[in-house]
Amino acid sequence: MIRTIYWENDSVVMIDQKALPLEEIYMTCRNYGEVITAIKDLTIRGAPAIGIAAAMGIALGMLHQSAVSREEFDNYFYRMCDEFAQARPTAVNLFWAIERMKRCFENVVTSDVNNAKRALVEEAIRIVDEDIAINRQMGINGKTLVNSGDNILTHCNAGALATGGYGTALGIVRAAHEEGKDIHVFVDETRPILQGARLTAWEMKKESIPATLITDNMAGFLMKQHKINLVIVGADRIAANGDAANKIGTYSLAILAKEHGVPFYIAAPLSTIDMALQSGDEIPIEERDNAEVLQFHGVRIAPEGVAAYNPAFDVTPHCYITAIITEAGIARPPYEESINLFFKDKFKNENQGETY
Ligand code: MRU
Repeated sequence: MIRTIYWENDSVVMIDQKALPLEEIYMTCRNYGEVITAIKDLTIRGAPAIGIAAAMGIALGMLHQSAVSREEFDNYFYRMCDEFAQARPTAVNLFWAIERMKRCFENVVTSDVNNAKRALVEEAIRIVDEDIAINRQMGINGKTLVNSGDNILTHCNAGALATGGYGTALGIVRAAHEEGKDIHVFVDETRPILQGARLTAWEMKKESIPATLITDNMAGFLMKQHKINLVIVGADRIAANGDAANKIGTYSLAILAKEHGVPFYIAAPLSTIDMALQSGDEIPIEERDNAEVLQFHGVRIAPEGVAAYNPAFDVTPHCYITAIITEAGIARPPYEESINLFFKDKFKNENQGETY
């Protein structure tokens, strides 16, 4: 099993995704600032994993906090949450996890400081455990869309590394493979920083799931030759109407899929859906350092002085999305209605003491 991030000896341990696939190094964060840096520099990345890192980082920060007054303790907590919220803008799971840690803090705020610290650690560990269970459920739901003999195209990394474990899009691939379905995955390399080549290909190899690496510009050619049966990708934020932000290049894939009659699926937990946003136009898109475009693995590939542009995500309009696979079921258009139903059921179940 791939361990992405875990709590050990009152520290946060995570696999260094910058070093993969050449080295498997686990990094220990002993203060919350190190966790924020790890999110910013992509040591840990992928929407659910970013949320988990923030939850653990917040717990870590409070655990090692030695405020002299309760007021100081509370102020420290909220300041730290604000710092985490600045780490990356697009993946809503980051803000979801911060809100969940705030709710936990507010529930224990009247208990003594040591109890409050322990409650935050327990909540962060609960978030990662729940995430793995959610991904497994998404796998069970999603594998019904995969047939033996299928060739699946995926983009970026929506695998164990992007989550607490198992993965969203790759969780479905795993579930189909575990069931004995004869599947094969085409892995988009995912320029500019190659999450597909470095991370998805590594995950597929580790579990002996048949996979072939392609460059991003090959997908159309493969679809034209009927070599792709379905596309499954993850998401960083989904608006209430089903528009979905994911790694740059996803939008082009979705258009290609529609043109060639290939089903295009998004796999994401309900925590990736931002019901506060009516459409994808409202999703903030992160722009990263142009050096990621001007270089390839640290080596300059363009002339000095050339301008570059580096949006890290794009938004796929809902009309290109065949279905959205969640832990609560498979949402189909019109998404306003199908997604809304999932949230209604979720709140109903939570009020009856069940959680997803
Ligand atoms: O910039 P990254 O590597 O954090 O981008 C990750 C993606 O776009 C993933 O596809 C998305 O977070 C879904 S992960 C289950």
